[in-house]
Amino acid sequence: MTETERITTTDAGIPVASDEYSLTVGPNGPILLQDHYLIEQMANFNRERIAERQPHAKGGGAFGKFVVTADVSSYTKAAVFQPRVETDMMIRFSTVAGERGSPDTWRDPRGFAVKFYTSEGNYDMVGNNTPVFFIRDPMKFQHFIRSQKRRADTNLRDNDMQWDFWTLSPESAHQVTWLMGDRGIPKTWRHMNGYSSHTYMWVNAAGEKFWVKYHFKTDQGIDYLTQQEADQIAGQDGDYHTRDLHSAIHGGDYPSWTLYVQIMPFADAASYRFNPFDLTKVWPHADYPLHEVGRMTLDRNPTDFHTEIEQAAFEPNNLVPGIGPSPDKMLLARIFSYADAHRARLGVNYKQIPVNEAKIPVHSYSKDGAMRIRNVADPVYAPNSKGGPRADSERYGEVAGWPTSGEMVHAAYQPHAEDDDFGQAGTLVREVMDDAARERLVSNVAGHLAGGVTEPVLKRAFDYWRNVDKDIGERIEKAVRSR
Ligand code: NDP
Ligand code: HEM
Repeated sequence: MTETERITTTDAGIPVASDEYSLTVGPNGPILLQDHYLIEQMANFNRERIAERQPHAKGGGAFGKFVVTADVSSYTKAAVFQPRVETDMMIRFSTVAGERGSPDTWRDPRGFAVKFYTSEGNYDMVGNNTPVFFIRDPMKFQHFIRSQKRRADTNLRDNDMQWDFWTLSPESAHQVTWLMGDRGIPKTWRHMNGYSSHTYMWVNAAGEKFWVKYHFKTDQGIDYLTQQEADQIAGQDGDYHTRDLHSAIHGGDYPSWTLYVQIMPFADAASYRFNPFDLTKVWPHADYPLHEVGRMTLDRNPTDFHTEIEQAAFEPNNLVPGIGPSPDKMLLARIFSYADAHRARLGVNYKQIPVNEAKIPVHSYSKDGAMRIRNVADPVYAPNSKGGPRADSERYGEVAGWPTSGEMVHAAYQPHAEDDDFGQAGTLVREVMDDAARERLVSNVAGHLAGGVTEPVLKRAFDYWRNVDKDIGERIEKAVRSR
């Protein structure tokens, strides 16, 4: 064996005698318990799989850079968005409902989760490729996801279950219209936009607050797959989007997105015609135009998918100074949910996995726990007089919050002047789609409804679409009835 060849070792680095034969008593004899290398191999194999993400199990990702190209410093003091600042980042794209081995080209929103390794700690923007969502109260999220997953009895997914939930939750109409339209199956992850969907708060150096929505617009151009193309690809290459991203970056064709924000003055929120915190609504561009912020370019593939992508942990609570949440109830629930999911999926010390580590020194007082690889130095408590880290209330004490009061209730948002469940969905159908796109919408919805949706859900679905747009509703009913 030459010096450059590597000898197999155990996990403890001890040279191994055979990659092929276990230790036995004679060539035909029983296997010896002392063959600890065989046992290590079997034991490790049995523990290779970790729990997949509950939603968003199937995905892929890459690394890159975010460069600020404009000046938004009058709206936020966040270091990551100051003029000309460059920040390392990573992204994970995903589908929502399918399991880890499910086809990339199923009709579904796509996750668009960005982690910025900023000079003020990790900032996660955990968005989707759609500007809205199916529901507006987190109480419904678990039920919504279950209606997309498998039945208890057959272990099959069930369109009837999905339409049952959607038609009993009319706030879903805008997102479902978007999903059944062309953007419901992007051609590749490179050919779709990313949106924060939620409204967030920005705070500038003077303490002024603004409401913002993020739009990452693809520089590759929007492109989509028809249902037929997607079905065909699903049968041929379930990993089509994963492969596309990897090949593009491997070949030096680095995809990029330009980040824009819509900015709403803090005081506008109370009287804006739509509730600006309702996740089922967009802010029309004519009301709040896009402001350029910067460009994100992906130029590096992971080399170890498990440790760099599967174990990546994105969480909407990772907000840095100058960026805060908004009163969107969905967002506020997500601020709890993700870190909880990571503790369950990856273990309490998931932030010490290199992909999740801040790239600046961490001085937290968290300590010990399973799989911890580094601990705080003494003193391990605060307050202390022994030179431990101290919180800085002077620089970071101002909460990115808003005034609030009221009785404790279980209730819907108070409606704003033009809030309803179907209006913006109707605008999308009538004003954004052209005749050919409307025809594809009818065909996509009819195909989905014909895939196992039964009465009384079917009738409710036709009414739902008539509420979105009378003509589209009639056409969908006709297309389903004539099948
Ligand atoms: P605009 O005409 O200013 O914007 C329409 C936007 O629709 C476009 O900018 C584009 O978003 C997006 N779009 C184009 N084709 C499709 C499609 N097939 N499916 C989904 N979205 C598409 O009008 P408004 O701002 O008044 O919005 C009108 C409707 O457009 C809304 O009700 C909403 O359904 C949809 N929309 C609005 C967005 C917003 O933030 N205002 C964002 C996305 C969709 P983009 O430029 O982001 O690619
Ligand atoms: C993944 C919860 C709404 C985007 C997840 C995960 C949970 C979750 C538990 C799995 C996390 C993990 O195991 O790593 C929720 C709850 C929601 C909600 C409780 C609402 C109350 C949303 C919305 C968006 C979104 C509105 C987009 C705007 C994502 C993305 C992922 C994800 C992109 C995958 C992140 C990754 O790539 O690791 N969600 N979610 N979710 N969610 Fe949500």
